Amino acid sequence: MSRELATTGNENQVKKVWEEHWDHLRFAIPDREINSYHVFRELKRFLPFLKDLEILEAGSGTGNTSLELWRCGAKVTLLDITCQALEIGRQGFVKGGGKTHFIQGSVFSIPAREGSYDVVFNSGLLEHFDPGLQEKALLEMMRVCKTGGWVITMNGYAKSIFYRFGKFALERTGRWTYGKETPVESLAHFAQDRLQFAGEHHFGFNGILIEGFKLVGMEPATKFLRQIYFTVPEWLTKAVDRFLSAVFGGYIIMSIFKKTG
Ligand SMILES: C[S@@+](CC[C@H](N)C(=O)[O-])C[C@H]1O[C@@H](n2cnc3c(N)ncnc32)[C@H](O)[C@@H]1O
Repeated sequence: MSRELATTGNENQVKKVWEEHWDHLRFAIPDREINSYHVFRELKRFLPFLKDLEILEAGSGTGNTSLELWRCGAKVTLLDITCQALEIGRQGFVKGGGKTHFIQGSVFSIPAREGSYDVVFNSGLLEHFDPGLQEKALLEMMRVCKTGGWVITMNGYAKSIFYRFGKFALERTGRWTYGKETPVESLAHFAQDRLQFAGEHHFGFNGILIEGFKLVGMEPATKFLRQIYFTVPEWLTKAVDRFLSAVFGGYIIMSIFKKTG
């Protein structure tokens, strides 16, 4: 792999896409949404003892994942490049009674000292960037992570049949509002001296299915199914998600790295 890190790329383009996305959001932001809940659930499975962990979410969007982490006792910081997303996150934290720090900034130059956080993660961010920028973002996340801490990135999974088909259909019908997004098969190749690859798995089929309805103009169906989903016992939704993700490919692939030095 080249050691030359990209200094240019589609960074500004991505920022613009998300500003427009948040400005013209076509659906209401719920207190709990299935994809960000699944992201939280997987983080909690990997890190069962969240209490007092310092966690940074880069590209925090709605902030829903971090709010769940806060509810488990973590000390969370939200970083996003758009003020629109931070405002949405702020409203969510006010409503949920949560406490956090908000930082407007880029994952490529995080305004934090080296080794500030136990865990640095993102979901739905790296797949929007060219590979050179993906590496640059991971190294910057590593910089602000403590030695022995975790850098975790979650992105759309390339082998998810429903996600690939849905994305294709939305692009074809002009309803795709997320700009360039390259599904990820693996990010293991980004491992390096101080960033040890610790594993990868995919999950989240249920999320793409239920949250997908709103993307095709059927928001009431998403709302209805979402409500039911959160009343079903968690062991059952987990088991169903695991099974369907194994068969059809989960929506999200979680790539885990440990900062070793
Ligand atoms: C897919 S959304 C994240 C969704 C989030 N996981 C959630 O649960 O709502 C990606 C976010 O990354 C932000 N973003 C885009 N480029 C960024 C950058 N260079 N640095 C930090 N955040 C960025 C966007 O503004 C957007 O809010």
